[in-house]
Amino acid sequence: MIKKGIILAGGMGTRMSPLTKAVNKQLLPIYDKPLIYYPLSILMLAKIKNILIIVNKGQLNQYKKLFPKNKNLGLNISFKEQDKPRGLPDAFLIGEKFINNSNIAMILGDNFFYGQNLSKLLRDCAKLKQGAKVVLHNVKNPESFGVAKTDKKNRKILRIVEKPKRFISNYAVTGLYFFDKKVVNYAKKLKPSKRGELEIIDLINQYKKTNKLSAEFIGRGGAWLDTGSISDYYKTSAFVQAIENRQGFKIACLEEIALLNKWINKKDILDSIKFYGNCEYSSYLKKLI
Ligand code: DAU
Repeated sequence: MIKKGIILAGGMGTRMSPLTKAVNKQLLPIYDKPLIYYPLSILMLAKIKNILIIVNKGQLNQYKKLFPKNKNLGLNISFKEQDKPRGLPDAFLIGEKFINNSNIAMILGDNFFYGQNLSKLLRDCAKLKQGAKVVLHNVKNPESFGVAKTDKKNRKILRIVEKPKRFISNYAVTGLYFFDKKVVNYAKKLKPSKRGELEIIDLINQYKKTNKLSAEFIGRGGAWLDTGSISDYYKTSAFVQAIENRQGFKIACLEEIALLNKWINKKDILDSIKFYGNCEYSSYLKKLI
């Protein structure tokens, strides 16, 4: 089982300026909680407890206010700073010590997933022993993402390209990846692309070359949403609001997942209620216990 996960939550968030001038993008709200809660909840649903959050240089204090040392979610959370956005594979260079020769999951701090069989899919992905696994989702605008072309039976990835100008497939490569321990060495061999960044697709292609790449699919019943632009942000917020208000269940309530995983107890929930203060999120926590 993969026991460690990285959340890459740096980047300049330029597309969302001026919102991101003073606050890191992943701390902005998606409806009723900071964006970072959503990718973190995904790692927790995969039963991953050891988490490295990579943040922009100078923004560590903002994160420590949200995840202070004495806040118990049953996790071991550590932080590292990235001094500039060198590309997604930089996470494996910054995180080399944390990874310490184990297999690793990585999720991008701005990725939102929701769906019925998601927890099972995540636990299955976390069983990866060798190679790399990507998670694919059908989208209307593949040119905005990494894209994978698969064979007819969806058993094999034939090609994988970053933001292809010419159509190759509708399967976007989502920002959730599972790698074996070779990932650090592969990341070390990468050279910056034309746009001056290390590319995740180049890293994934190293696994493809040796036939060690596999895929999981989020089907039509699942959602993978964008939070790339301001308008995407509001659309994702509206999605969360609609589901939560209809069902009465919260999406990405970290304490609820930790409690279900039996990582925390009633006292920890009471401490969280104190931490958040009198708010709607606390009322929800109260109902849990
Ligand atoms: O969201 C999925 C897509 O994410 C994939 O389909 C693409 O293959 C992958 O390259 C990536 O594309 P984006 O254009 O969305 O990447 P972006 O540069 O926007 O970065 C995604 C997140 O990672 C964002 O929250 C900022 C953070 N980031 C990014 C870079 C380049 C860092 O923390 N450090 C970095 O150096």
